[in-house]
Amino acid sequence: MAEELRVVLRNLGKINPTKIDDYLDAGGYQALEKARGMSKAEVIEEVKKSGLRGRGGAGFNTGQKWFFAHSLQVEEKYVVCNADEGEPGTYKDRIIMENDPHSLLEGMAICAYAIGSRKGFIYCRGEYPHLVQTLKNTVAQAKEKGVLGDFDIEVRMGAGAYVCGEETALIESLEGNRGEPRYRPPYPPVSGLWKKPTIVNNVETFANIAPIMEKGSAWFAGIGAANFPGTKVLTLTGDVKNTTFIEVPTDTTVREVIFQFGQGITGDKKFKAVQIGGTSGGFLPETLLDTPIDFDSMRKAGATLGSGAVFVLAEDRDILDVVTRIAKFFEHESCGKCAPCREGTMRIRALLEKINSMQGSKEDVALLEKLGRVMAGACLCGLGQAAPTPVITTIHHFGIDYDAKIQ
Ligand code: NAI
Repeated sequence: MAEELRVVLRNLGKINPTKIDDYLDAGGYQALEKARGMSKAEVIEEVKKSGLRGRGGAGFNTGQKWFFAHSLQVEEKYVVCNADEGEPGTYKDRIIMENDPHSLLEGMAICAYAIGSRKGFIYCRGEYPHLVQTLKNTVAQAKEKGVLGDFDIEVRMGAGAYVCGEETALIESLEGNRGEPRYRPPYPPVSGLWKKPTIVNNVETFANIAPIMEKGSAWFAGIGAANFPGTKVLTLTGDVKNTTFIEVPTDTTVREVIFQFGQGITGDKKFKAVQIGGTSGGFLPETLLDTPIDFDSMRKAGATLGSGAVFVLAEDRDILDVVTRIAKFFEHESCGKCAPCREGTMRIRALLEKINSMQGSKEDVALLEKLGRVMAGACLCGLGQAAPTPVITTIHHFGIDYDAKIQ
């Protein structure tokens, strides 16, 4: 039996999130104190040794990312929390911010100390207006108590663009520009906000930092999968009996997530497919359900852990219908800056609509695959690179559904 383990959600239901004293009584801000008693290099080494990898979807080693900014002798540096949780089916960051917003601030403040920054931003999703006020109150309380020292945090609100979850589009938006991605390199840890070294981390990543500083890197490295240690907050949606969120060690399998925590398929129907990582994630069939939810195992299975959304489809769902809807979403959200994404998302949608309305051919399916490969390699940012994933993985695993719509 797999079990939940609450590291990120350690205070959920135990404290009143609107009261800093509750957080302090639960041991809050002690990890920050501890970090400030260590050298900056020691803090970074501890985060590196923990093996923590980014929880926004890319799985980059967090300590390594911090090291890039830390090692630059620049006066101005920034810490940015990516709270622009736009991936459909994903609401893990909302849960964290609603229930334990100080844990996010503490992680940011530890990062600020380690890299030598005095200014941070939280970029909150525009569709979470209630959280903007929560976060502002949280920052005000922390400032009043003096726990942040000389580190200042500003809360900014997004305006509903999915692409602004991409770190360089987010940075452009923070600077007051149109939210379009930049060419990388240079990567933000070297040149980000106003061309200064900038660490952009996801909410869940920051919420892991205080427990790591408090309990040590060895403790964290011992949880879950060796190459992607710790826990993952997952959001279960679709045809599961129990649509919920859970926090589990990263060696938990997809089968356990769906059939144990999700309590199986609604109406006791048969399982058909699961999409992991939100709309940009891959679809897995029954034969791959024993894949652990760690980043690398997911990649090997041809899927992505992404933001941790788990979207389940029962036997009577029409895969082509689902994938066509997803393709419409990407066409709508493409910012249009690069041609492969601007044109590609539109072509994918058109080809899928053609196939879905029984007008397609085998050549159209082959063209979809080819287009997907080109986009994965040629698009400027994660949006366009990941947009073909649902199509490619469903052609691969559910080719029979495509065949059934081709006359
Ligand atoms: P990436 O792998 O290019 O970069 C990851 C992080 O590491 C970035 O912060 C980047 O600046 C840093 N980095 C990488 N190489 C570096 C270097 N050489 N020097 C310094 N820093 C470096 O991935 P990216 O483009 O940031 O994100 C794509 C991922 O986001 C996808 O895997 C996708 O699953 C996920 N995603 C998540 C969504 C969500 O709602 N959470 C939505 C859409 C995509």
